[in-house]
Order: sequence, then structure tokens, then C-alpha cells
Amino acid sequence: MEEIWRRLDAKARAVAERPIAALFEDPSRAGSFSARMGDMLLDFSKTNIDAEALELLIDLADAAGVAACREAMFSGEKINETEGRAVLHTALRNPSASIAVDGVDVMPGVRRTLARMRDFADAVRGGAFVGQGGPITDVVNIGIGGSDLGPAMACLALAPYHDGPRCHFVSNVDAAHIADTLNGLDPETTLVIVASKTFTTVETMTNARTARDWMAGRVKDPAAQFAALSSATDRTSEFGIAPGRVFGFEDWVGGRYSIWGPIGLSLTIAIGPERFDAFLGGGAAMDAHFRVAPFRQNLPVLLALVGIWHAQVLGHATRAVLPYDQRLARLPAYLQQLEMESNGKGVTMDGTPATRPTGPVVWGEPGTNGQHAFYQLLHQGTQVVPCEFLVAARGHEPQLAHHHRLLLANALAQSKALMRGRSLEEARALAETAGFRGKELDRQARHRVFPGNRPSTTLIYPQLTPAVLGRIVALYEHRVFTEGVILGINSFDQWGVELGKELATSLAPVLDGAPIPEELDGSTRALLRFVAEHD
Ligand code: F6P
Repeated sequence: MEEIWRRLDAKARAVAERPIAALFEDPSRAGSFSARMGDMLLDFSKTNIDAEALELLIDLADAAGVAACREAMFSGEKINETEGRAVLHTALRNPSASIAVDGVDVMPGVRRTLARMRDFADAVRGGAFVGQGGPITDVVNIGIGGSDLGPAMACLALAPYHDGPRCHFVSNVDAAHIADTLNGLDPETTLVIVASKTFTTVETMTNARTARDWMAGRVKDPAAQFAALSSATDRTSEFGIAPGRVFGFEDWVGGRYSIWGPIGLSLTIAIGPERFDAFLGGGAAMDAHFRVAPFRQNLPVLLALVGIWHAQVLGHATRAVLPYDQRLARLPAYLQQLEMESNGKGVTMDGTPATRPTGPVVWGEPGTNGQHAFYQLLHQGTQVVPCEFLVAARGHEPQLAHHHRLLLANALAQSKALMRGRSLEEARALAETAGFRGKELDRQARHRVFPGNRPSTTLIYPQLTPAVLGRIVALYEHRVFTEGVILGINSFDQWGVELGKELATSLAPVLDGAPIPEELDGSTRALLRFVAEHD
């Protein structure tokens, strides 16, 4: 692989000064540097990737063994080597498959749990399951990380399809989060879902106990209005939640990949089991595409190769996710966990230090809001931020179609502006029109120059339906996987979150009044003293 990396580096140097816009002298560029999966189009023609670079990137994916690793993942091999686990979230969205782990078919269990989720969601939605005060009006999902971001992102994304109780999400251990969420809810008609794979996560368990206390003030048997999404059935029963309302999943479903199973229960209750099935179907369709489409037409592989080109070859340290879709407002946060917890690693599979930068910083906000906030830096700042636009051809508000047309115009204009920029000559003409002359004209013009040549991709789809959302989420999952394989890292563990948890546990007693340990560093001691003085 080293030779391919070396050739990619040389290629990057060779095209460094080439304007992306010049590549469009080839009238077939838009078609050649884009790919479709059904009615979804990924356009990566506004990047500096040309035929030779694409060839090299595909060689890189081949040399890294992406195809073999992909099959190993889908067939249940234990590719999460540091935890000795298979990686089978794809099984959750393909219930008719037959997949074995350690020689045991895991699919009957998947189907049973899915059927139980459906029954429970129907019961909550239809009034067969009620709270002490009557039908459930509100669902509060308490979880954090993968046990929160997926359903929170998807519930917002699919708001036009909600016909069940209202859904709320509490994740932060900050009392403000649960206090503000419960404020105004009726404990007698609220269902609390405690979502935690391990059922030990301190934030989630603290919030769950607070919710139980809140309910206990008004409800005779609060545990009867609780459900749990967890693999730890001993701990859920210790908490008092009846096994009939516990929905388990196996250790081969990583937290950040878990929206497809029980962690999707709040979403299922909000939109109904049929639409949740459509969401799963969308994910399964992307799986099928990822498994069989040649790399050149394979959306997840292409998105990964664009990512590798920008982050590992050109060295851009961040990438922006810019949904022109207000209902995808939580997608950047969701992708931050998916991408940065997966590929923010320092060592390769064999424990040796990674020689290239690994996963980039992922950030973003919906357009058009971002345009009035940080796009200044995207257009004229000194660092290049590759941008990933997402936009639907049509919205869900036909009566407000003019809003959507403006939204689309902005999305398309931004990718064009990033690529095209504005030359000094054009800027001078503008400044002249504005009345500037002589030296002042020159100075003013320079502030109006846009360097351009800033790369972006656009993912465009007809409408943000449950099936399309399923495809988008699975697309990004497989992109992360493909990048991880090329970088030779384990995308499925997350040891990097442990140290902070351990230290928080050791500091908690000090905040409860225990003496500040002498061996603590001076900064932490000073901060603790400040808290003690102001508590
Ligand atoms: O932050 C680490 C992590 O393990 C995530 O990977 C996971 O999504 C989150 O914590 C929540 O874990 P659990 O579902 O066990 O509460």
C-alpha cells in the first residue's frame, strides 16, 4: 500500500494549483464523478479528484482488502478484534437473513426482538398499554451516545411521519436536561425508556433514577411505566423493570450502530412499526448496494475515498456536514459519534502507531443557518474545509414549496461558490462599482476575493422519507467502515472514552465533600477549590 500512498501524495502535489472548475472543461465530468444508488445521487465532481486519482484511490481500497473485510463483517466474523466481537448491526435491518456467530444462528433472536418491539410500539400507540392516568402522551428516552443520538436524530428527521406520542430525549447528566424535559410532562401518561446497552453508564442511570423519583410522586408503580433497552437483563430487573418490557441486543451491536434494533424503540413508537420497517429497508438496500456495486459506482466506497483524499492525502483536518434540511439538524452530532468514535484512533490493528492522520474532525450545522455563521471561514479562511452537502429535491410542505426552492438554490449556490471563488479582477470590478478608486479600490478589492477551489460533495435524494433516512445512515456507516479498513484501524472499539470516565468516578467523592487528594495536579485542585468556595 505504501507505494499507492506515495503515488497519491505525488498526484496531490501535481494538482495542487489546478482549479477544480477547470475539470469541467470535460463535459462528462459531472456524470463520471458521481454515482447513483436508486434515486439517490452522490456528486463528487466538485473535488480535485480526476480519473488518475480515482484509479489510485480504488487501488488503495483494493490493496487494503476492503472487499474481503466487508464480507467478513457481513458474515459475522469477529472483526472487532480488541473486544473479540462480531460487527453485525447490518443483521438488525435484514431480518430474513441467516447469520451465525460462533456457529449459532443469531437471526431467530433478532426476529423475536423486532416482533416484540412492534407489539409494544403498537400497544403504546393504540392504547393497549396505558399509564396510570390513561393513554401514553409522551415518551422520554433516557440514554447517551449511541443510545441517544440515533433515535434523537431520526425522530427529528422523520417528524412529518409522527403519529404516535411525543418523544423527548434526555442524555446529559446536567440536571438542567432532565429538569427541563420533564417540566410540563404528566407522570401519569409518560413512558420512560431507559436506553443503555450496559445499563451502567453513569449519566443514564442517574437520569433514570431521577425520572423514577419524579414519577413516584404521582404514580403508584413507576416501574410499570418504564421500559429498558439493554443487553444487561440482570441490571434491568434489579432496577425493577419487568422482563416483558426489556428489549435486549447482543454485544455484536456497537452503541453508535444500534439505532436499527431496540434503541430505535422510541422512533418506532413515534412513527409506527411499518415506517420503522421502511427505515430498516432503506438501510438494508444500502447494505445490498455496498456489497455488490463495483467500487467505481459504490456510494459508501466513493464517499470513503473522497474522505481519504481530503483527510489523509491532502491533509485537511476537518470536514463539514451541511444538511440543507432542518430536520437533519442532529445529523452532524450523530455523525460526530459515528465517525469520530469509530475512526479517531492512534494505532492500527496490530497496535503500531498510525502513520497517516486518522479520522478527521467532523462538524456542521444545517444550511442556511450555517451560511450566516461560519461559512465566512469556509469561503475565505486560511484552512480548507471539505464540505458535504445533503439536500432533498422536495420537502414535506407543498404549500410552502417556495421555501424549498430557496433552500435548494442556496445549497447549489454554496457548492458552486466554494469551487468557483471570485478573482481579484472580479473583486476590483465590484469595488469600482461601489465607488472605490485608486489605492482604496485595491485594498477593498482584496477583501472581496474568494480563493475558490474548495471541494465539496452533494448527496441529493427525492425526499427525506424513512427509507431514504435509512439509506443515508447506512451510507455513512459503511463509509466509516471503508475508511477504517483503508487506515488499518479498528472502527468498532472506543477505548478513548474510558480514561475520562475513570477519572470522573475518582473525582465524584471529592465533589461530595471528601478532601482534595494531594497527588492531584495544581490545575484540578484549584478548580475543585473554586467549586468548594462557590457551592
Ligand atoms: O461513550 C462511550 C459509549 O460506550 C458509547 O460508545 C455508547 O454509545 C455510549 O457510551 C452509551 O453506552 P450505553 O448504551 O452502554 O449506556
